[in-house]
Amino acid sequence: MDRFLRIALAKGRIALQAVELFENIGINCSPVREGTRRLIIRDPGSMVEFILVKPKDVAKYVELGAVDMGVVGKDMLLEQQPDLYEVLDLGIGKCRMVVAGPEKPRFFLNRAVKVVATKYPVTARNYFREKRESIQVVNLDGSVELAPLVGLSNVIVDLVETGRTLEENGLVILDEICPISARLVVNKVSLKMENERINKVLKALRQALRKAV
Ligand code: PRP
Repeated sequence: MDRFLRIALAKGRIALQAVELFENIGINCSPVREGTRRLIIRDPGSMVEFILVKPKDVAKYVELGAVDMGVVGKDMLLEQQPDLYEVLDLGIGKCRMVVAGPEKPRFFLNRAVKVVATKYPVTARNYFREKRESIQVVNLDGSVELAPLVGLSNVIVDLVETGRTLEENGLVILDEICPISARLVVNKVSLKMENERINKVLKALRQALRKAV
């Protein structure tokens, strides 16, 4: 066993909670907890190596085999539909994907087709296709809540965690698309080549999650 098992973590909200889970099963990732700027963090004790990447990039690293496993939000999986195995709901980073809009629309966009602003164009298109509604998507990078306030869109498709951003911008939830949480994902080849080690991590995480309930 001279090879480190590589796990990609999404930097930011999920990373710290994920680290807690991995530490519970005996993998030391204290540098991540302490806010290191290093992008590769090794724990020789468990022969596990973490890499820290943008949430949007986790699935890419896993799918292309640069890492064996990853922790990534279900929102990214729905949007990117990567070719990998989604093996465990980690129950962290919980939030909801919703359609939201102004309670009392200030702008009635004079267009026949509803305009939807979002960071999740695939998810938005799939949702409205199922509802048999034609839409036009405006693909934004963030602060999506602004779009209906300035007449860029009628509604938004976005994540809601506490609901504060919606509330402070006078928006309300119009429909819930699905619940979201962080998932453990595995590269397809790694699951064969590193089956024993990956299953050991998986089993330990499952046990730790059961205990936490
Ligand atoms: C996310 C999401 C909402 C907000 C929801 O954005 O896109 O804007 O958090 O959280 P709340 O319900 O607790 O207010 P993020 O903070 O990632 O920033 P962004 O808008 O720049 O993407």
